[in-house]
Amino acid sequence: MILLTGATGKTGSATAIELSNLKVPFRALIRSEEKRDEIEALGGEVIIGSAENRETIDQAMMGIEKLLIILPNCENQLEMEMQLVDSAKAEGVKQIVYMSSVEADEECTSPIPKLHWDTEVYIKDSGLQWTMIKPNFYMQNFIGSAKTIVEQNKFFLPMSEGKTGMIDTRDVGKVIAKVLSEEGHEGQSYQITGPEILSFYNVAEKFSSVLKREVLYVDMPMDAYKNILSQFLTNQWHLDSVIDLFAGIAEGGIEYNTDTFEELIGTPPRSLEDFIEEHRNLYTA
Ligand SMILES: NC(=O)c1ccc[n+]([C@@H]2O[C@H](COP(=O)([O-])OP(=O)(O)OC[C@H]3O[C@@H](n4cnc5c(N)ncnc54)[C@H](OP(=O)(O)O)[C@@H]3O)[C@@H](O)[C@H]2O)c1
Repeated sequence: MILLTGATGKTGSATAIELSNLKVPFRALIRSEEKRDEIEALGGEVIIGSAENRETIDQAMMGIEKLLIILPNCENQLEMEMQLVDSAKAEGVKQIVYMSSVEADEECTSPIPKLHWDTEVYIKDSGLQWTMIKPNFYMQNFIGSAKTIVEQNKFFLPMSEGKTGMIDTRDVGKVIAKVLSEEGHEGQSYQITGPEILSFYNVAEKFSSVLKREVLYVDMPMDAYKNILSQFLTNQWHLDSVIDLFAGIAEGGIEYNTDTFEELIGTPPRSLEDFIEEHRNLYTA
């Protein structure tokens, strides 16, 4: 049996859909009773509870062979991830598949990549088998820009000339489901990216060409962007950490892509044009 965390989020839900398509049984630890139906509709078992609660996670971990850890960025993310690893070890789980990030490495200092790296090390030190999933920037991050694209034909970010090898979270889910449903991925760190390296000005060109109207990228000074973001991210650690991450992107920290998706799945990853086309209704008044 497989245990998913984060199964109601972007990559976790994509993973659950893929496992369901593959008819692979899974269980999901989710926080909200209201979301039970969406997991059960995919044939998944549900345990209600938070990854903060050791008793609940021990219960969810019973009879599990493979555990997927996906948690959102928050001040106690590392603590929750370590607790999941401890529980997995105590309950006899064989393998952990961990949602890390492409920036996470031995030298990183930015808080979010650093916590991912610390969890990677903790998992490796646990003696359990592991597979690290290290995606580049998510295309789905542009869902947050839908309102300004609809209202002003503009999106506002502080990424300067920085480029990314952005990937669709549905493709990330495909990779995770493959890793969870077959053997042979133990000890692998998969850096997964989309098909192209794109600046945010290139992204604006793609939006313009698919939506057939001019969409502009407005490059904001980091401080001004931080002021706006502070209205949405009220936790200071989270705000500072996201700004630090974006500064790394603006400086060119993740300007690369890999063939890993195609090597694993056998088809090219989704293009940004496909993503925009499939989300056209969000970007159209
Ligand atoms: N954004 C990017 O470009 C990017 C790129 C690479 C890697 N990443 C990494 O991806 C991870 C986030 O993945 P995502 O974007 O797929 O997640 P997401 O959409 O933000 O969803 C987070 C999931 O975690 C669940 N969750 C939150 N708190 C929990 C708790 N205390 N106990 C149990 N479950 C909890 C949420 O459940 P509810 O439905 O209850 O809220 C939801 O299912 C982060 O660690 C991030 O660093 C992001």
